[in-house]
Amino acid sequence: MSTLFNNIGCLFTNNQDGTDAASRDLGEICDAAIVVEDGKVAWVGEAKNAPAADEQIDLNNQTVIPGFVDSHAHLMFAGDRAEEFSARMQGQSYSAGGIKTTVAATRKATDAQLEANLERLIAEMHASGITTFETKSGYGLDVETESRSLAIAAKHTSETTFLGAHVVPQEFRDSAKFGSVEAGADAYVDLVKNAMLSAATPHAKWIDVFCDRGAFNVDQAREILQAGINAGLAPRIHANQLENIGAIQLAVELDCASADHCTHLTNQDIDALANSNTVATLLPGAEFSTRSKYPDARKLIDAGVTIALATDCNPGSSYTSSMAFCIALAVREMHMSPAEALWSATMGGAKALRRNDIGHLSVGASADFAVINAPSYIHLAYRPGVNLISETYIAGRAVTK
Ligand code: NIG
Ligand code: FE
Repeated sequence: MSTLFNNIGCLFTNNQDGTDAASRDLGEICDAAIVVEDGKVAWVGEAKNAPAADEQIDLNNQTVIPGFVDSHAHLMFAGDRAEEFSARMQGQSYSAGGIKTTVAATRKATDAQLEANLERLIAEMHASGITTFETKSGYGLDVETESRSLAIAAKHTSETTFLGAHVVPQEFRDSAKFGSVEAGADAYVDLVKNAMLSAATPHAKWIDVFCDRGAFNVDQAREILQAGINAGLAPRIHANQLENIGAIQLAVELDCASADHCTHLTNQDIDALANSNTVATLLPGAEFSTRSKYPDARKLIDAGVTIALATDCNPGSSYTSSMAFCIALAVREMHMSPAEALWSATMGGAKALRRNDIGHLSVGASADFAVINAPSYIHLAYRPGVNLISETYIAGRAVTK
């Protein structure tokens, strides 16, 4: 069964065969068409040259882009933190500690409640043009809740990340019980590396650590990531969101697929990233919602670092599922061009997940694309707060209708 998606105003394919890391060409083709067969792109080009297909869908001269690849989200949680956001907007500062509110709600939630919340967010993501998402655990922080969070997530995405090392939970902060704050943290690191990792591994592809002030230091992060690698998981890391404690050097040392946040970087960090296989994932929704300074995207791009843009969707620091909003922030606040932002939200995300089959619409790629009801992808940033995505297709099937 083949389908011809016809009458595309302008199509952006990212013009790659999935292996050419150097090219940043958006691959614009106007008056275009795509043929999909077995969920994959079978043909792409000018509509006038399109081959016949079993059925046809008319896209009415709209714009088509590869589906967004959201390589960083925290969707396994219950409750929200609207009051915390409100207080922050009135002057209170953000700290890693707010996570404990969500941990308490998540532990209490049933599997059905966690899955319903996940499905609600997936529907939002589809409506915003996201076709692949990663999600982390990290709001359970005990063996049972981390493992059930990941088991539920794995029913909905192959990109699941074990983030038992999000923060040290309350019950390990009792220095009377452990002898000192450090001893409590050490005991928690031990739990993460052993029982929690074993329970998480069957449901996870990635391991992540929040390596930052108020969370885990570089030595703890190295120990945890290495344990994950030994168990067969691939590493990624929350690095330098609140402060630079050396997480970028660790990311490069361990060949993390991605170092995420990158808000505070030295020139050496930027050099290290530029000479590595580690993508810098920028999460401007977090800077927006915590009213923090944005990372220096221009400096990273000029140094040759590969950048991904992701939502960081989570109830604390970035409660958005809109990639278009992140693109608007990247353009307005981080001085990325609309083309750079589009590339980073598609191919960049795919590279952050080390995937060749998504993020572009070359022949053989998964037929994952978003239809924009506007004359150009630039409108994603130019018309902030307006959802211009009219349809989203995953493997050639509409997921928004
Ligand atoms: O990516 N940085 C750590 N984790 C999340 C925030 C989690 C929270 O505040 O609930 C982030 O921003
Ligand atoms: Fe995060």
